[in-house]
Amino acid sequence: MYACVCFSITEEEIQDEISAGADTEEELGERCGAGTSCGTCVERLGCLLEQARSRPCVDQTLAACPSACDAAALHAGITAAA
Ligand code: FES
Repeated sequence: MYACVCFSITEEEIQDEISAGADTEEELGERCGAGTSCGTCVERLGCLLEQARSRPCVDQTLAACPSACDAAALHAGITAAA
């Protein structure tokens, strides 16, 4: 499944970047471009980051993200502050 449609980046590729050290949405964007075009995927990237930190999204599945994810609100704040 694509995490970022604009750049055809899969969730697995995002998880690989997180494993390689990406810790924020901005770092993911710098590494692979995800989230740097339309921005629609940024909340989803945040959920993948949250999962990697073992702080799973409220819904426990990315299928429900980003529409009902508390982590998405957190990351929206981080993104807005950047
Ligand atoms: S879907 Fe990721 S930047 Fe557009």
